[in-house]
Amino acid sequence: MNAQGRMHASSGRGRFITLEGIEGAGKSTHLAGIETLLSNRGIPLRITREPGGSPIAERIRALLLDPSITGLDATAELLLIFAARAEHLAKTVRPALASGSWVISDRFTDATYAYQGGGRGLDPARIALLEDLVQGDLRPDLTLLLDLPAELGLRRAHGRGDADRFESETLAFFERTRAVYLRRAAAAPARYRLIDAAAPLAQVGEQIRQNIEPFLDAWRG
Ligand SMILES: Nc1ncnc2c1ncn2[C@@H]1O[C@H](COP(=O)(O)OP(=O)(O)OP(=O)(O)O)[C@@H](O)[C@H]1O
Ligand SMILES: [Mg+2]
Repeated sequence: MNAQGRMHASSGRGRFITLEGIEGAGKSTHLAGIETLLSNRGIPLRITREPGGSPIAERIRALLLDPSITGLDATAELLLIFAARAEHLAKTVRPALASGSWVISDRFTDATYAYQGGGRGLDPARIALLEDLVQGDLRPDLTLLLDLPAELGLRRAHGRGDADRFESETLAFFERTRAVYLRRAAAAPARYRLIDAAAPLAQVGEQIRQNIEPFLDAWRG
């Protein structure tokens, strides 16, 4: 049982680690380093992402990120995200964990609380209902929250090129998103590790290593 009194993702099988943070925090950039860290310890690993992570979920992702889609109803967006998540869990995450692989996901349900709850202003109680429906008892074992000021994250993300449907949102949207991430991390400190993602790249990588290694030691012996 973890701090929330739920079963670990694993119950003796693989562990489930998620990376969270607003646009431009460095989640995708640091996946390779995390992969190396775990692979060096011989841990079987499945890297995945949300929205997406399975063939049908990736098609829903394309729709969710398409900047030419305007005026999508916020509840419809929420349901599409959980529809993609149901597919991702059924086709990718649960089979990997059951086979003993660890799973690292670039975003998961914390992003839904942060973006659709914080950003869009949807009632978190509704998100929690869908979380229970779609995930049952499955929650991440560890979540690394890459935190930085929204303004800096957006500047980095825009430096990457064309903005997707979320990246076109306002600074205020991402300030609300960041605030929800920070609140969730503060409310469940056993599961979250806060990373200062405003730091230079190498320092962020080092913070990630220092925060993951104690879990590897505890979980792998
Ligand atoms: N610590 C850092 N210092 C400077 N630039 C960085 C840092 N971390 C990431 N970047 C750069 O910022 C951009 C965004 O990084 P990345 O794509 O990893 O963010 P992300 O968290 O995956 O964003 P998104 O949520 O939009 O997918 C990239 O061009 C990356 O090289
Ligand atoms: Mg990314």
